[in-house]
Amino acid sequence: MIRPEAPRRRSFVVLLVSATSACVLGACASEAIVAARETGGAAEPPPPPVAAPPIPSAPATPAPPEPPAHFPPLPEVPDNPTTGPGFALGRRLFYDARLSRTGTVSCATCHEQAHAFTVPEALPARGVTQEPLARHAPSLVNLAWADSGLFWDGGSKNLESLALAPLTHVDEMGREGELDAMMGAIAADAAYPRMFEAAFGAEGVTVGNVMRALAQFQRALFSAGSRWDAWRLGQSAPWSADEELGRDVFARDCARCHTPGLFTDAGFHNNGLDASFGDDPEAPRRGRGRVTFSADDVGKYRTPTLRNVAVTAPYMHDGRFATLETVVAHYRTGMVDSPSLDPGFRREGAPPGIAMSDAEARALLSFLDLLTDPALGLDPRYANPFLVSP
Ligand code: HEC
Ligand code: HEC
Repeated sequence: MIRPEAPRRRSFVVLLVSATSACVLGACASEAIVAARETGGAAEPPPPPVAAPPIPSAPATPAPPEPPAHFPPLPEVPDNPTTGPGFALGRRLFYDARLSRTGTVSCATCHEQAHAFTVPEALPARGVTQEPLARHAPSLVNLAWADSGLFWDGGSKNLESLALAPLTHVDEMGREGELDAMMGAIAADAAYPRMFEAAFGAEGVTVGNVMRALAQFQRALFSAGSRWDAWRLGQSAPWSADEELGRDVFARDCARCHTPGLFTDAGFHNNGLDASFGDDPEAPRRGRGRVTFSADDVGKYRTPTLRNVAVTAPYMHDGRFATLETVVAHYRTGMVDSPSLDPGFRREGAPPGIAMSDAEARALLSFLDLLTDPALGLDPRYANPFLVSP
């Protein structure tokens, strides 16, 4: 696939890497000057020039992960392009519990690599107060393409500004009014000042750069190594008859919202979970309506990706369904009507839902299993850097 943006992005990375090594060269050069001053007495003639030994190259920060070639072009982020040093810094911050008020909660506490960066808990009670949150933690893969807003209701505009929400939320990381203390903890670390400089130059250790680095790390959480991808790339072992039938059922009933290959249309829909949404216009259960204040949007949520869905239970914005069997049963027979229900689920003379035979439902479940990327949970580039060497 032709990706017009890719070369520009790559050349930026190259520039940054060479800037880093230039720095290293600079340091070597000034050492050489000091050495010359120490030996340089006026009486001594300068020694004859000898070929300088090759300068050992400093270990370069690896480039960030590349986007999958069969995905749509990676959207450009001109004011915060992902670089090797920015990604490495963001990864360390993502796993660093010192960012929280109690020193016990990191982003990864609620976004675990083994679960495609979500948690196996409906409303996670894992923040500094151990109070359950209002919603389930969504998977964080392939968010570089999430162009309709973040959070279940799309209420956050971009990954840069989003990080401030969990950092300052009283029940998540508890740093409301305490960002100075957080920055103090970061600046006191032996490695961070150097890493901020490598990523952002002289501007260094600032709250803005914490946000930028976290965004760079998350924007490079790519997941594209499923059996579905292998099939899409013509590299797959044959599928079972059930998996093939499941693909057809999926194409017929699910793909209009969970559109391959991101398995989301980034749109907002009501898939018939609830009949009423309360009166408080700002309550989380209003869904998208809480953001737009439009009656049409009440009860709608952003379509979640189904990539890795076998490891991201429980399901829906509030984690109400523990298994994929229950989810499929919901689409077949569990749906309830409300004004914003997606019209595609309405049927003449029958309650809303999707008609499907038992065999088709079983096949659909086999197909959903094909969307798991087994490499994601083990990818060392995304792992906790405090536990493994980078
Ligand atoms: C205590 C648990 C918890 C912690 C800690 C936490 N999150 Fe989350 N995260 C959630 C929940 C719950 C949501 C869903 C919120 C919503 O949609 O209203 C979420 C949503 C998100 C989303 C939106 C994803 C999407 O698809 O819309 C991103 C991005 C995110 N978190 C990043 C972070 C980062 C970065 C940190 C650390 C600075 C962090 N989270 C810390 C629980 C947590
Ligand atoms: C009209 C759009 C639409 C269609 C069609 C649709 N879905 Fe969904 N799906 C959604 C939305 C929106 C959500 C999130 C709803 C919420 O949490 O309130 C969702 C959630 C899910 C989830 C939960 C994922 C998670 O991470 O929590 C699964 C699984 C799922 N759908 C599977 C399917 C399957 C299988 C089909 C076909 C039988 C299907 N969907 C058809 C819009 C749709």
